[in-house]
Amino acid sequence: MGKKMISNQNIEVLLPEINLISSEKLRHQCINALLDAFETGGWNWDNIYLCPVSINKVSNRDMNHQIDHVRIVIKIAISMYDLLEENYKQNSDLRDTIIAGALLHDIGKFIEFTLKGDTVSYSDSAKLIRHPLGGAIIASRNGICDEILHIIATHSFEGRESSETLASMIVKAADEIAFKYIKEFE
Ligand SMILES: [Fe+2]
Repeated sequence: MGKKMISNQNIEVLLPEINLISSEKLRHQCINALLDAFETGGWNWDNIYLCPVSINKVSNRDMNHQIDHVRIVIKIAISMYDLLEENYKQNSDLRDTIIAGALLHDIGKFIEFTLKGDTVSYSDSAKLIRHPLGGAIIASRNGICDEILHIIATHSFEGRESSETLASMIVKAADEIAFKYIKEFE
């Protein structure tokens, strides 16, 4: 029997937060980018939960799950943004940018990491193209706009000298806090 592929129809089971994106066009672009990354990296329903947040920086295996990480980063980022909007009585379209940015920020990890048997290691291209760059390339070829590409490309040390948008600061902070949390309980 062949591998059960992650598809258009079942990706919302894996990442239900996709449905928080209000723009249908952006939602579809995000789904296409994720499916592209899963297919390129060889991830499917049989192995997706083996994809870690980090290969060598997290020793607590129970907390080292990339899908869980992405979901909590979306939730932290959107909580921060909603609190600000509520406080200042604003309602901007940045909300979609932040959800999509958080959803896709680590999309490049599905290419950076590869699975051999049950063991995850770095792929051949990982030294030259780390996940912020690889992720931006995949997102770009699926029509994702520059503001979200900026979030993906700058969320790690690659972005240290870069300008930062409010949306990229929020996603980056949510990512760092979520990562620090799992490190705290090793
Ligand atoms: Fe992350």
